[in-house]
Amino acid sequence: MDVILTGDRPTGKLHLGHYVGSLKRRVEMQNSGKYEKIYIMIADAQALTDNADDINKVRNNISEVALDYLSCGLNPEKSTIFIQSQIPELCELSFYYMNLVTVSRLQRNPTVKNEIQMRGFKQSIPVGFFTYPISQAADITAFKANLVPVGEDQLPMIEQTREIVRSFNTLYDGVLVEPTAVLPENSTCSRLPGLDGAAKMSKSLGNCIYLSDSSNDIKKKIQSMFTDPTHLRVEDPGHTENNPVFIYLDAFCRDEHFAAFLPSYKNLEEMKEHYRRGGLGDGTVKKFLNEILQSELKPIREKREMLSGDLGQVFAMLKKGSEHAREIAAQTLDEVKSAMGINYYKGNGFCKR
Ligand code: TRP
Repeated sequence: MDVILTGDRPTGKLHLGHYVGSLKRRVEMQNSGKYEKIYIMIADAQALTDNADDINKVRNNISEVALDYLSCGLNPEKSTIFIQSQIPELCELSFYYMNLVTVSRLQRNPTVKNEIQMRGFKQSIPVGFFTYPISQAADITAFKANLVPVGEDQLPMIEQTREIVRSFNTLYDGVLVEPTAVLPENSTCSRLPGLDGAAKMSKSLGNCIYLSDSSNDIKKKIQSMFTDPTHLRVEDPGHTENNPVFIYLDAFCRDEHFAAFLPSYKNLEEMKEHYRRGGLGDGTVKKFLNEILQSELKPIREKREMLSGDLGQVFAMLKKGSEHAREIAAQTLDEVKSAMGINYYKGNGFCKR
């Protein structure tokens, strides 16, 4: 049976892009009961690789991300939710995996290259940041995960992990499991654009709807959304492709929403046709989108508010999850050291290989 591991860096609260791109799917996977184990990791140690000077940001966002998880329906009874830095075995695994990867291989990683550029590191790249793909291989292999649900930008990390697993299993005994990435089902969900139409919803661009936003914030943000710049008057024909409002509808709208909030159309296709023909104003479309998002986000926000009243309970949940995760990682580390022949004191005295 399949074992899943995935995670997020705690550098900010989670937004609608995270929700459609990954959280919703995780909850479905969790509730399907089809998986042997599901591990969800808050990757604080990875977040520190480019935030060493801002520990508080990472610290404070651990509980924010945990609240986002729980309010979306991740359930600690079914999924192990844990904090990366609480599993020291991951560092030990990384240390041995570092010998299986060359500097030039890391330099070729397109995601790391892109992040180095975006962060303006130039010649001052922290070593920890540069090597985080190796530590991510430790995260995945420590739990023998064979499935890793991630966004497209993480594919190079999974490929790097697969290479490390193959090298390890060839050089030593084959104790590690080669993982496969699980991508979001459709492109709308894998990359929700920002409110301003930018390619991605991102905290630094200030174009996000957060899971914790108030109902009023959501309404105001939707009203300010970009639409089709050529659709100036209601009568003008409009474009639905590359129109953020319609992309959000593609991601969230179901036929029932029309029955409930806009019965003059049967489905999204009918509404889109009207928009393309002309005669359907942006205000109506936005109002409809607002109804849908309010109904989707209200239960999440309410659960979040309730849980945030008892952070002690959230931290206790994370502690328990981390203790369980640590046991599993320690078992794998033990197997890894035995496979390498460096478990010297296992058994009686200084063991032979
Ligand atoms: N790199 C991932 C991100 O930035 C977070 C992460 C760390 C991760 N370790 C992982 C994801 C292991 C999947 C598996 O979002």
